[in-house]
Amino acid sequence: MGPKLGLNRLFFKVEGQNPTGSFKDRGMTVAVTRAVESGAKVLVCASTGNTSASLAAYASRAGLRSAVVLPSGKVAAGKLTQAVAHGARLVRVEDNFDRALQITSKAVAISKSLYLMNSINPYRIEGQKTVAFEIFEQLGNRVPDYVVLPVGNAGNISAVWKGFSDLKKLGATKTVPRLVGVQAEGASPMVEAYRQGRAPRPWTAPETVASAIRIGTPVSWKKAMAALRGSKGEALSVSDVEIVSARRSLSASEGIFVENASATPIAALGKLKGIPKAATVVCITTGHGLKEPIPEDWSDTSPPTAKDERELVRLLA
Ligand SMILES: Cc1ncc(COP(=O)(O)O)c(C=O)c1O
Repeated sequence: MGPKLGLNRLFFKVEGQNPTGSFKDRGMTVAVTRAVESGAKVLVCASTGNTSASLAAYASRAGLRSAVVLPSGKVAAGKLTQAVAHGARLVRVEDNFDRALQITSKAVAISKSLYLMNSINPYRIEGQKTVAFEIFEQLGNRVPDYVVLPVGNAGNISAVWKGFSDLKKLGATKTVPRLVGVQAEGASPMVEAYRQGRAPRPWTAPETVASAIRIGTPVSWKKAMAALRGSKGEALSVSDVEIVSARRSLSASEGIFVENASATPIAALGKLKGIPKAATVVCITTGHGLKEPIPEDWSDTSPPTAKDERELVRLLA
């Protein structure tokens, strides 16, 4: 895929390989450990899906109860299945993620037993930043020139920036990568704000096939803005058609199967101007494709049947 795009050093950091299939596990293991230490009983989050899967898994391992608040009707089937399998209590809000997070935060504020596990929890960011350390290590103790990643609530870009900034502070590197934050066109308040040099205005009706980043009010926008500015980065949006097509090409040409949100960096690559051929570019693919059904037009829903080996040869050769 790299050479086709004119990039000789294009890498994918495949976060779908984490235990529950998304980058969320990095932060969740730290945050759940801290929650156990603090004596928390019920761990809660609002979630577009992956946080709920991760929280439910780590809470079950820690012997704690978990509860997840989901926006109505927009959570990918695989993620919901994971939350159920790990025993989370599920609650729906007849609204979008932003509203779900708003009332979850308020519920935590008025309850003694609920403990908030969304990425505003600082331990989540501390865990999530380890992806920067791993990228550095896997590139032979060098930072890439660009890191391209999806942005929803903007916790991850904040964490990635913290990781690379920590490496610089520690003297491990003199440079930091440029961060490229990618949003879906129908849910791109950060892109709009960064380009216009102001705080994001809330998008009240975000809409995209990339359900994980269908977010109109990114809660960590200040940190994300600092990451984009500090890294001399860029914010880009991509259409739903571009997302689905990038998801498909990544599967077909690299053998990496991702969910829609995780295909946004790949969709953005073609739009990034002025990247030298020799630049080291890392796309973070944040979640596994098995979590989210593929569009019907990709799948061969009625494959031919074979009665015997002769027919099989005819069909396969
Ligand atoms: C697969 C996937 N990619 C990207 C994101 C965006 O991360 P953040 O909300 O930290 O910006 C999420 C968030 O849920 C996600 O699940």
